[in-house]
Amino acid sequence: MLENKKILLIVAGGIAAVKVPDLIRRLRERGASVTCILTNGGSQFITPLTLASLSGNMAYQDLFSLTEESEMGHIRLCREADIILVAPATADVMAKMTVGIADDLATTVLLASDKPVIIAPSMNVMMWTHPATQTNLQTLKTREVQVIGPGTGDLACGEIGDGRMAEVSDIIATLSRHFQKSRGDGPLKGCRAVVTSGPTHEPIDPVRYITNRSSGKQGHAIATALANFGASVTLVTGPTSEPNPDGTKVVNVQTAAQMMKACGEALPAEILVCAAAVADWSVAGQTGQKIKKGVKAPALKLAENPDILATFSKPGPGRPTLVVGFAAETENLITNAQLKRASKNCDWIVANDVSVGSSVFSGDSNTVHLVTADGVESWPTMSKSAVAERIAERIVKFANKNL
Ligand code: PMT
Repeated sequence: MLENKKILLIVAGGIAAVKVPDLIRRLRERGASVTCILTNGGSQFITPLTLASLSGNMAYQDLFSLTEESEMGHIRLCREADIILVAPATADVMAKMTVGIADDLATTVLLASDKPVIIAPSMNVMMWTHPATQTNLQTLKTREVQVIGPGTGDLACGEIGDGRMAEVSDIIATLSRHFQKSRGDGPLKGCRAVVTSGPTHEPIDPVRYITNRSSGKQGHAIATALANFGASVTLVTGPTSEPNPDGTKVVNVQTAAQMMKACGEALPAEILVCAAAVADWSVAGQTGQKIKKGVKAPALKLAENPDILATFSKPGPGRPTLVVGFAAETENLITNAQLKRASKNCDWIVANDVSVGSSVFSGDSNTVHLVTADGVESWPTMSKSAVAERIAERIVKFANKNL
């Protein structure tokens, strides 16, 4: 989606500017070209030299620089871009954008811009929730400025709350979606996809359950990426705190049995991606009453759960044309993934190492190997959104040949 796109990146003065090198790297990995403008505040956190070295383009800072103006005027900077991204966007920049103040290169370019603008706000929670900032935010939204984040969490100032700049992967996903939309229908238009995600909860009694550490980040990112390519996506998800991906139909379930039933109802589809960490066992013989604490700890009897991936991979009419499973392994990753691909009859397996210390469960990044009939491809460590995008790109290639 970002191939050959020209992104004008305005870096304002916030601690989140330290995320900008990663952002530039990931944009360039996807074929985008990045030109940076730095505000005076931004230059307190990151240098023009760093931005220029990482982007491969000059980093601009001074409105009245003779060199910059003779080589490239501020008007041309915004005319040549496909989109302007302000990350981090401070309260100050947002306020100046709202009232049209143009007192440096960044704000002059924003005022002179005829291009779509996306901002990723980052600031202290009180500054973010201040009525002035919130009013500015609403004004910017009415002018069709797209806003990503901010997220909630620990802030650099030591306080906790809204104000963290959106994750790099979310910024990339928003940019991809923007270009997808402006391109019209995606390459998977007309394709139906079912994606499973998250953990399952297998009840022990009405108040306790067995589960695992899956957050749903990987599965949800895959659903988002497929929807961005125009597929009609049903996401069947176990309990997670991930937001529902835009443009997908979401079916919430608790147990493996419910996930199995929901997938059966969502199919047929051309594509099935099983990224959920489905519990292999449920608890047999539940009484429906809370188990009382007694002298002896109760022994749990487990019963095998249905295998969703294996069930819907079985050859026969109605089988999705492409079935993608995951293998979460703690040892012999590739060999076990290959065995899993064969035993579950799926077309591709995405193998990931979930041993202690890998932080794949719940973390933001993943290191995966794509196992297909043609062999094994090892991908570098990437954000889960980037992994999802790559899987979706491979699915597009498959669909172009086979659907
Ligand atoms: O959710 P995150 O925190 O982002 O973490 C991502 C992840 C680690 C959960 C994900 O990348 C992943 O590896 N998902 C599969 C986890 C798993 O259950 O692996 P498995 O090797 O036990 O199962 C193999 C395959 O069979 C998987 O596609 C699984 O969805 C499927 N399966 C397993 C059991 C079952 N009863 N039904 C199934 O469909």
